[in-house]
Amino acid sequence: MSQFAELTLEGKTYQLPVLEGTEGEKAIDINKLRDLTGYITLDSGYKNTGATKSAITFLDGELGILHYRGYPIEELAEKSTFLEVAYLLIYGDLPNKEEFFDFENNIKRRTMVNEDIHKIYDGFPVNAHPMGVMSALASALAVFYPGSISAHPKKDYDVVDLQIKRLLAKMPTLAAWAYKNSQGHPVNYPKNKYSYIENFLYMMFAVPAEDYEQVPEVVDALDKLLILHADHEQNCSTSTVRLVGSSHVSLYSAVSAGISSLWGPLHGGANQEVIEMLERIKDDGGNVDKYVAKAKDKNDDFRLMGFGHRVYKNFDPRAKIIKKACDNVLSKLGVHDPMLDIAKKLEEAALTDDYFVERKLYPNVDFYSGIIYRALGIPTNMFTVMFALGRLPGWIAQWKEMREEDQPIGRPRQIYTGAVNRAYVPMEQR
Ligand code: CMC
Repeated sequence: MSQFAELTLEGKTYQLPVLEGTEGEKAIDINKLRDLTGYITLDSGYKNTGATKSAITFLDGELGILHYRGYPIEELAEKSTFLEVAYLLIYGDLPNKEEFFDFENNIKRRTMVNEDIHKIYDGFPVNAHPMGVMSALASALAVFYPGSISAHPKKDYDVVDLQIKRLLAKMPTLAAWAYKNSQGHPVNYPKNKYSYIENFLYMMFAVPAEDYEQVPEVVDALDKLLILHADHEQNCSTSTVRLVGSSHVSLYSAVSAGISSLWGPLHGGANQEVIEMLERIKDDGGNVDKYVAKAKDKNDDFRLMGFGHRVYKNFDPRAKIIKKACDNVLSKLGVHDPMLDIAKKLEEAALTDDYFVERKLYPNVDFYSGIIYRALGIPTNMFTVMFALGRLPGWIAQWKEMREEDQPIGRPRQIYTGAVNRAYVPMEQR
């Protein structure tokens, strides 16, 4: 491969370095472009722009491949656990027994949250969306632990490592409490005899003074779902975490921004929208073709939620695993969900329709996940929170990598298209 790309502008030719990643991905390095030429590049939505080099996650959207630190997602989903995957993403390698024991114990010891944070819940309306609550509370952690702002993951290793463990430990507590608060129910305090996933389920669903029985199928399914969501390289929320973190705010503030970004219906918020869409189709008589036609109609704002992806143009490997897991969980729990029938019909109709085929629109991770969450008893407004709990290790790993490499503050440029040099006219003369 040539080591330079040639660019000719206004009769002058420039050589720009060419890079290749370990999986053969190619890039033209334009770091010096403006200094050399006076030009910038324009790429709305960053469809062709690599914002960073990264050693965390590899995905090939054409081939439907997703690897965390070199391990295929299929293998991790089958053999690993969410906490082990979190360790892998954040520290780079799978932990040995002692490393994992230490990691898990450190997290277990930090699952409680300050009682003053508990009081903040009272200030939210009962019907507050848990994603809004989560974003606010993640941000609140930055003021409850103020000494940690701008800590550097290499120079202040222990400080940052504590932030990482605090976040992993407290987010499930904050999430379960957001749900309890939305129900007007008393919260359950964490019980550290439980595993990470069991503890979350306990805090979500245990009724005071009654025994709480863990259902292994539910624990396994949730563990798998969180693994599948754990990282996805430079997606919208992760790029947000990196961009916000690049100004050296604390990890808590960067994660809070990531949660806000994830909430949107084009990103993680799609999992809630999918179930609401399936319910709408069911209530409307189950006419799948009508909704496929609406999605194709350019005069109609309706989109098939859970379909399409910026980078997957073949299939989303996570969706494949989730679809299978969905069938398994429903049959193990003996649940028949009419939403699954509608979802399968919709998938079939869309995958045979030219509009979807030509645009390479396939079901994404959010299409079937909501059906599993329903079967596990997770309420609809908590679906995106589940995504956030899963994505947390990815946000942390990407933030850590960005700060360890001392990447510069993120600050894109623009092409100005507004008015030029207007003279101010006093108000009474306008
Ligand atoms: N239903 C109908 N048409 C669609 C859909 C859809 N879900 N998605 C894309 N299209 C059409 C779009 O109208 C456009 O058509 P045309 O070329 O005629 O203008 C073409 O496909 C390309 O779409 P785009 O919006 O330019 O693609 P994008 O890469 O900017 O957007 C997306 C990707 C995920 C935002 C989009 O596919 C979408 O809105 N999907 C529904 C929301 C959703 O499921 N989001 C979750 C994504 S997966 C979880 C995550 O990682 O965030």
